[in-house]
Amino acid sequence: MITRLTLVNFKAFRRLELTLGPLTLLTGLNSSGKSSVLQSLGLLRQSFEDTELPRADQGLLLNGELVELGSARDVLHDDFGPADELEDLGVTDTPAVAVVVEADGEPFSFVGRYDAEQPDEDVMETLVYPTLPLFVREPFQYLHADRITPAVTYPRSRRIAIDRGFLGVRGEHTVNYLRHFGEREIPDGPLRHARASSPQLRDQTVAWMQELCPGVNLQADPIEGTDSVRLSYGFGGTAGINATRRRRPTNVGFGLTYALPIVVACLTATPESLILLENPEAHLHPKGQSRMAALISAAAATGAQLVVETHSDHVLNGVRIAVKRGNLQADDALVHFFRGNGSGAEVISPRMDKDGMLAQWPEGFFDEWENSLDQLLD
Ligand SMILES: Nc1ncnc2c1ncn2[C@@H]1O[C@H](COP(=O)(O)OP(=O)(O)O)[C@@H](O)[C@H]1O
Ligand SMILES: [Mg+2]
Repeated sequence: MITRLTLVNFKAFRRLELTLGPLTLLTGLNSSGKSSVLQSLGLLRQSFEDTELPRADQGLLLNGELVELGSARDVLHDDFGPADELEDLGVTDTPAVAVVVEADGEPFSFVGRYDAEQPDEDVMETLVYPTLPLFVREPFQYLHADRITPAVTYPRSRRIAIDRGFLGVRGEHTVNYLRHFGEREIPDGPLRHARASSPQLRDQTVAWMQELCPGVNLQADPIEGTDSVRLSYGFGGTAGINATRRRRPTNVGFGLTYALPIVVACLTATPESLILLENPEAHLHPKGQSRMAALISAAAATGAQLVVETHSDHVLNGVRIAVKRGNLQADDALVHFFRGNGSGAEVISPRMDKDGMLAQWPEGFFDEWENSLDQLLD
């Protein structure tokens, strides 16, 4: 479990120190640095994931499967400067970015040196901590805000969806993952949906999707002779997964297909998982957003680690309710509110108590409902 993340000279941050827990919500203004936090973890992972390859010696790979950060010039913070994290590793002669991850009580420092002669390079020379932290190898999901849209077919990559169990940053491998692992059982615990017709992933996915859209069911089929899989939906309470009348995703509305990777990502959670989610609420109706928060909280309660960027009061409140109901420990739910203050990001972290109440309610933090109401009642 990553308990602390420190970023130095990384994109929007001159220096940012953030506590992470089983469930960490990143909230706040647009362009305040929330996605950059997820990107820093994606960057480490794509640089050091495959230790069979000599990548660890090659440096920080700014552009890859997980993140496309551009060049070293793009990543180095505009007002870069020195920091203890850099000095500790003897980097004083050149500008550099640092990502320091504290996991299981141990700090792991990754420093990328900026070569002023080659600012447009998309690899930064690194000083790597001698042992790679476990989080680089454990089960991992990262879903960007920009995900798959309804389509009739989806890719069928054995290597990505099956060998690695990765859904893709746009969730593009979710349908193939479901097709292949549909019979895998969700262990008895917080993630297992009580009203599903079986503990199998396929039925558990349907049950959680029905929380978003009552009566829906879905099916993932291979298209023989092609490298594609097909997704189809059925409606009608008792139709079950074998319903004959199927609908193409393109005829079913955006929200369901957009939410599917999030649901499946949460259902892949094991105590070793790290799951990064951007805007799980996208395109869902308010109650659906709230139910999505229940699922996210359940994934965190299994012992997985989730870091979630959200703009949704319903997601926040859904997590607060999970805490109040005892489905998630209050100490396991962290909330960070990012607000850019012109000279870099400022983060306020209201603490949650066991009743789901927050100790602080800073200005701009999910207060628009009240602001609007005040104007209406004025
Ligand atoms: N090299 C850099 N130096 C300073 N600020 C940067 C740099 N790269 C990106 N930013 C800033 O980072 C912000 C974007 O951060 P992002 O994580 O995408 O925000 P969010 O997810 O909160 O919308 C923008 O304000 C942008 O100006
Ligand atoms: Mg963002």
